[in-house]
Amino acid sequence: MKSTMKRTVTFILNEESRSVEVEPSDVLLEVLREKLGVKSPKVGCERGDCGACTVLLDGKTVRSCLVLAIEADGHRITTVEGIDPKSDLHHAFIDHHAFQCGYCAPGIVLSATELLRKNRHASREQIQEAISGNLCRCTGYAPIISAIGVAGSMPCGEKAHSSKKGS
Ligand code: FES
Ligand code: FES
Repeated sequence: MKSTMKRTVTFILNEESRSVEVEPSDVLLEVLREKLGVKSPKVGCERGDCGACTVLLDGKTVRSCLVLAIEADGHRITTVEGIDPKSDLHHAFIDHHAFQCGYCAPGIVLSATELLRKNRHASREQIQEAISGNLCRCTGYAPIISAIGVAGSMPCGEKAHSSKKGS
């Protein structure tokens, strides 16, 4: 009986078309991690408070624990796997030691990506605001904010979506 409720959703995940069978109640976080093997969105509070599950949906940050997979049908999803590992943002995070356990890092990188696409010269306050929904329990926010600020001032841009083979 349960299987009759299933439906197939199709979306662009990190520049690749993916189709997956889901229950109407399946949340995007669970589908990404358990059905599609994309593990960077992390399971945290599962109620929208911590930001560990952040992904980009059509370029905008969402908490994937609060989005039904069926709502993502036909849309474009980016996780941190879809961001160029050689991007300025990645380099800046490493250079500034902007993570320790790394649990919060994928969500923060995506929040920063959204911000820097809109405003590469964001002020400290704007950076703080952009990552205010991403909780970090171990690094402290100063190195994270510095890393995002420095990445924004780098000349090459954050190069999201340019990690396709050969680029
Ligand atoms: S796990 Fe989604 S906001 Fe905490
Ligand atoms: S680096 Fe551990 S929670 Fe942020």
